[in-house]
Amino acid sequence: MRKIIIEVGEVLEGKIEKYLGSGERDVELEIGPGYDPFILRMAEIFPEKDFLAIEIDPERIKYQEELIKRRGIENVKLICGDAKFLLPNMFKSDFFSNIYILFPDPWPKKRHKKNRLLDRDFLLQLFYFLKLEGTLLMATDNKDYAFEVFSLLHGIKHITFYFRMGDEKGVEHKTKFEKIFLKKGIDIFYFRCSKEEEFNGEYEKELKCILERERVKPVNPFEKLYFSHPFISFDHLFNSFKEFVVRRKDGKIFKYKDLYISQDGNMLILEGICREKRLVQNLSFQIGCKRGRYEVALFTNRDVIFTEGVIEFIEIFMSTFLLDFKL
Ligand SMILES: C[S@@+](CC[C@H](N)C(=O)[O-])C[C@H]1O[C@@H](n2cnc3c(N)ncnc32)[C@H](O)[C@@H]1O
Repeated sequence: MRKIIIEVGEVLEGKIEKYLGSGERDVELEIGPGYDPFILRMAEIFPEKDFLAIEIDPERIKYQEELIKRRGIENVKLICGDAKFLLPNMFKSDFFSNIYILFPDPWPKKRHKKNRLLDRDFLLQLFYFLKLEGTLLMATDNKDYAFEVFSLLHGIKHITFYFRMGDEKGVEHKTKFEKIFLKKGIDIFYFRCSKEEEFNGEYEKELKCILERERVKPVNPFEKLYFSHPFISFDHLFNSFKEFVVRRKDGKIFKYKDLYISQDGNMLILEGICREKRLVQNLSFQIGCKRGRYEVALFTNRDVIFTEGVIEFIEIFMSTFLLDFKL
């Protein structure tokens, strides 16, 4: 069985085409499959195509992975992460032949609306990543969300769209949420949008700004970093790190999360969070005391993506006890 889950790091290194679309196969994308096997069903019906599902929740990714293994499906890949971060950081334009967003979280409360997946910027990106004549299919039971999407689509050129109250998926499959709403007799709004003309031109400037804003810059990876220093002490570290929260105007947040100390007091592990745009990563730092010298080892989990933000995090973090530390 081939690899099912693609790591975000691998994708940022530009290896996505190793897994998808090779030999000019069409690639279709679903965002937010949840616990529903719609994309698996599609993969079984269309073995000549590749399918990708992006899901933010690791538990749901695990569930999908198990199903894929059990059903012996070869043409579906999964990525665990935020589609709003992944798409601009992973793909080139005109990549997907179809995109499905079925029952995105509705965020019905007024103050939560900003959390909705579909806004103008994300819709523009979706059309940018769609191939010419590709379609975006969206379904929701939330009237307010449907009206919002309707008016957003209305303001975008080079696409045609229509919406109906009848199923538009074109295959015999009701998703988990679809079944719930149908059973309760709740109306469902289906949007089918097609990209009729090349998309870049008209929106070039706007898209450039959006993509620039969402993209993080990967840097050369390193796995471990060691150095030793005679003067730092656990007391000093304890006091400096508990206050370690750096919020910056560019949206980067470097934050202390937890501190563990070994029973014999010779080892300390500090966990921090590095938030850079939509990419949130946990980093851990291990600090041990050996023969009177303190040794700092920066271990990162295997899936940490080395970005400019992570390097800055380490530098700021280290500077709390070693002035002007630079990597
Ligand atoms: C209401 S469920 C719908 C599940 C499924 N499509 C269905 O119809 O049964 C929405 C799903 O979108 C996922 N999701 C929400 N925001 C996301 C994002 N930014 N990127 C990827 N997945 C996301 C959620 O974790 C959840 O599994």
